[in-house]
Amino acid sequence: MIKSKFLLATKEAANYVGVSIATIYRMEKKGLIISSKTPGGQRRFSKDVLEKYLKNSFTIEAPQNPSKYKKNEFQIREALTDYKVKISKPYYHNDFIWIYNDDILNLNSIENKSIDLIVTSPPYNVNILYNSHNDTMSYDDYLSFTKKWLERCYDFLKDDGRFCLNIPLDKNKGGQQSVCADITTIAKEIGFKYHSTIVWNEQNISRRTAWGSWLSASAPYVIAPVEVIVVLYKKEWKKMSGSRKSDVTKKEFMEWTNGVWNFSGESKKRIGHPAPFPVELPRRCIKLFSFVGDTILDPFLGSGSTLLACLRTERKGIGIEIDKKYCELAKNRLFTEGQINQLKLNTATGGR
Ligand SMILES: C[S@@+](CC[C@H](N)C(=O)[O-])C[C@H]1O[C@@H](n2cnc3c(N)ncnc32)[C@H](O)[C@@H]1O
Repeated sequence: MIKSKFLLATKEAANYVGVSIATIYRMEKKGLIISSKTPGGQRRFSKDVLEKYLKNSFTIEAPQNPSKYKKNEFQIREALTDYKVKISKPYYHNDFIWIYNDDILNLNSIENKSIDLIVTSPPYNVNILYNSHNDTMSYDDYLSFTKKWLERCYDFLKDDGRFCLNIPLDKNKGGQQSVCADITTIAKEIGFKYHSTIVWNEQNISRRTAWGSWLSASAPYVIAPVEVIVVLYKKEWKKMSGSRKSDVTKKEFMEWTNGVWNFSGESKKRIGHPAPFPVELPRRCIKLFSFVGDTILDPFLGSGSTLLACLRTERKGIGIEIDKKYCELAKNRLFTEGQINQLKLNTATGGR
């Protein structure tokens, strides 16, 4: 697996190989090395590929023995093909929206320290029938998966980047678990700083499945019909980067800084996804916690709600989704509900 910390910018790649930047471009043109592109259009070179090139470069640069030369060139091309397979190309993109059909644990197209705000709702491990993802891990496996993807998110965020994490408060089915407390603890171990927790009162959802001991103190069940949005940040809470242009109104600011949010959940049937959140959730997070023109990431894109919120608030949006069917759904929603073909990101916000 190639991790993004092993990706080098052009100048770094040139230094690594010991050639000029122009030579790096020439090598790329000849197909001896290849690069991936960041959402901002910057070239990135994998250290693995450069190392393979260096290992074989003696015979490449001094092909006195043609058969040896061919063999090594073939080996390099093989390595490159292997690498090409692993590079994440966007499933869909335009100037301000990117959808990657990939696993958040593998994706290598997002630069570290490039994201202003992450808004996401990961799988809850409550036996939901996703197309690809297995939502029935043991709780321990679920927490180790959580740790892995949280680490990636930490790397992607800018130092003043923020993270709105929509998760359950707790888990009642299959054994009681303090999900929010456990995930927040893991996030803090990784290095995230805690800001606050917003309680989302999903008014149209009933979570009651059992009473436990009915009308008896012997073993009653207490169930809170809410979810939470844990607000974390990387290093600095005060946001200095970006356009510094806010678009939250006075009414929204006063209502949303009260940490109990009341709005309805989204219909699975209407959206065609087993666990969508309403666009209102990312819309509030985006307007409250990011500036106009900022880059927002949702590593568990699902039906694309976060990207719709990005379109409506003039932010750049990146979504990662492991399932191709949901990527297509998200893309279609951008065209139908987001009317992407009619929208243009205000140039004042600095479209990529
Ligand atoms: C709770 S849903 C997100 C729903 C989304 N907020 C929406 O409004 O539609 C979680 C999504 O994460 C996807 N997923 C699961 N594992 C993943 C992984 N390792 N990398 C990327 N996406 C993944 C699932 O396919 C599912 O669509």
